[in-house]
Amino acid sequence: MPYDRASTSRPIPVRKMGFDFSQVPKKWFYDSIVVSHIANGVNLIFPDGERFFVRSVRHYLRQIDDPALRARVRGFAGQEASHGHEHEQAFEMLEAQGYEIRAWLDRYKRIAFDTLEPRVPPVLRLSVTAALEHFTATMAEEGLRKEFLDHAHPVMRDLLRWHAAEEIEHKSVAYDVLQAVDDRYAVRVAGMAMALALLLGFWRSATQMLLAQEDISQAQIEAERAAARSRGQNKRYFLRAIASYLRPSFHPDQVDNDHLARDYLQSIGRLAG
Ligand SMILES: [Fe+2]
Ligand SMILES: [Fe+2]
Repeated sequence: MPYDRASTSRPIPVRKMGFDFSQVPKKWFYDSIVVSHIANGVNLIFPDGERFFVRSVRHYLRQIDDPALRARVRGFAGQEASHGHEHEQAFEMLEAQGYEIRAWLDRYKRIAFDTLEPRVPPVLRLSVTAALEHFTATMAEEGLRKEFLDHAHPVMRDLLRWHAAEEIEHKSVAYDVLQAVDDRYAVRVAGMAMALALLLGFWRSATQMLLAQEDISQAQIEAERAAARSRGQNKRYFLRAIASYLRPSFHPDQVDNDHLARDYLQSIGRLAG
């Protein structure tokens, strides 16, 4: 499938944002504690996950001859560091709201990064990263294309839209590094399989950990989940994203969503940085 390489030739600026989460309520999304915790769950896995992405890509920096790709790697690393910083401020918001999250975060780090990461070959770590970057770009497109973030507290909405726009800006960096160092289809598929298991496993675990701290019945959790599904917040787009990633000729730039990022960044006056 042909695609426009214009997006990969644009610079990837690092933006410092400085969000203030002090006024965000517990039920910040759809006025639902369940939907809020589903989103908090994925927020909890971002910062350390994104630092892993950067380590995985930087591991191969010396093998990359193309100066343009090297510059994009630097932009990608800067953006991910900035995301990690802002999301960790949101951790403090959760603690100020009374949630205990540190024990879960310690366990997540121990399992994913102290135990698993050193046992996985570097090329598979890079492939997992490329697949997870495809998922973040897919979620980013949903967040910018659809109206559901209109139902989030303004600060969380701004955090997630900014993060979404930057995920689209750097969506092909890890994939291009993977193609440059090992373009075997089997490596790409193995990375996707592992990425899927890790993302869904840790996301579900974080959400359950937060919900377990609420005085809420399983029936109410199911009712709020069903309400979210009826609004169209479902996983179908996720399945479509997996299917497109598994096409042998896939490249992230085939997904036409750059205008969503550019329009949003323009609207907040931060297109250039
Ligand atoms: Fe990110
Ligand atoms: Fe990313």
